[in-house]
Amino acid sequence: MDGFKKLLRDSVQLRLSMTLSLAILIVALMAGIFAFVSAINEAHEMQDDTLRQVAVLFDRQQMTLHYPAAQEVEGDNEESRVIVQYLIDGSQAIGHDDSSMPLPFPTTLANGLSTQNVAGEDFRVLVRTTSRGERIVVAQETDARNKEARESAWRSSLPFLILFPVLLLVVGDLVRKLFRPIATLSAEIDQRDDQALYPVDERHLPTEIRPFVVAINRLLARVALSMENQRRFIADAAHELRSPMAALSLQAERLAATQMPEPARQRLLPLSRGIERSRNLIHQLLALAAAQSNTDRLQTAVSVHAVYRRVLEDLLPLAERKHIDIGVESIEDVQVIINEMDLLILVKNLVDNAIRYTPQGGRIDLSVERIQETTILRIKDSGPGIVVDEHTRVFDPFYRSLGTDETGSGLGLSIVKAIAERTGARVQLGFSNEAQQSGLRVSISLQKANAADPAHD
Ligand SMILES: Nc1ncnc2c1ncn2[C@@H]1O[C@H](COP(=O)(O)OP(=O)(O)O)[C@@H](O)[C@H]1O
Ligand SMILES: [Mg+2]
Repeated sequence: MDGFKKLLRDSVQLRLSMTLSLAILIVALMAGIFAFVSAINEAHEMQDDTLRQVAVLFDRQQMTLHYPAAQEVEGDNEESRVIVQYLIDGSQAIGHDDSSMPLPFPTTLANGLSTQNVAGEDFRVLVRTTSRGERIVVAQETDARNKEARESAWRSSLPFLILFPVLLLVVGDLVRKLFRPIATLSAEIDQRDDQALYPVDERHLPTEIRPFVVAINRLLARVALSMENQRRFIADAAHELRSPMAALSLQAERLAATQMPEPARQRLLPLSRGIERSRNLIHQLLALAAAQSNTDRLQTAVSVHAVYRRVLEDLLPLAERKHIDIGVESIEDVQVIINEMDLLILVKNLVDNAIRYTPQGGRIDLSVERIQETTILRIKDSGPGIVVDEHTRVFDPFYRSLGTDETGSGLGLSIVKAIAERTGARVQLGFSNEAQQSGLRVSISLQKANAADPAHD
């Protein structure tokens, strides 16, 4: 019960539905009761009228009464019958077991309507003195009258009984429809990824929630601005670090070229490696900041094979050192509409990973194909692959799987993710060898907007 109270307090929709339903229930109940009571009264009045009319008719027609032997009339409801008889002395009738004989009404009855109990049965009775001076009784069993009145009363309150569930359904549906924009809105916001800070479209929203959404939009704008500032700070910091690191690296190179004792040379080696790693980290940080910034970039029709070739030219020495067989598998080239630098950086980071994490003598295949409107780039290696549990985490900045001796910044896949999000590409990880669950297969799907018209191929 407490749970329900809390639910009621927390949900405007539930509160509105409940209040409206209760109001409808009360109104329908009151209207139903009113209809019921007035229908009963009306029925009784009509029945009294019938008694009066029968009495008047009897009087006018100057009828005389005989009491024939009781006979069953087919379909005649004996109880609801109107009885007409002379007002005779009750004692005459008592003990008579012939049911057709007059009922023993007390002769002292005054003219007019009344309810009488005769022989254990209640009767509505009208006594009238005819123009011939006889007193007649027109009577009807009250049970039968009540039964008829009740039936007619039920019939008149029936519409309200039907109206109640219909109105409930209408109200429930209406309330649900009224709150649908909120559900749609939250679904829309839920679907966004964390970089999508563009304002929520508030035009089609009800005026009651619009101020709230406008405030949220202002907050989103502030968050976007502060994120942009943070990105710029990182980019600036990386940029500032670049020159001193380059100088350091140059100095280390010069130092290596000079004469020096063997122990000094041995210490120089890790120093140079450290400097190289730091330079690489700075380079990747700058690349990530650039990938995440929302500046407009020139989009052109780019040949995927040309991009593959450029990446291979850059990374071939690395692959050859490890005796890795690397090459483009697909025969037909595909053109996509994208910023060339974006695609280059994206592919380069993936191929760089493939070379780094594939053991000596491994194999890497690059391919591209167009399936209807979608262009799919695939990079498959024969390395260990990435376990499914880590498929989302490897895209986080600085996340590196344990158990690898490769040096790296942990930023490569974050850069890939940032570019993919900005260009609307979808990146999926899988195994190049499903059966053995080994080898990483990265698929990048570029949708219709990125597909160049085949006529220009
Ligand atoms: N081709 C691959 N095969 C196996 N593991 C990979 C591959 N590519 C990426 N990974 C894993 O994902 C992690 C994150 O990759 P990345 O963001 O490029 O950072 P980095 O390469 O600098 O470590 C890597 O540390 C590695 O564990
Ligand atoms: Mg990497």
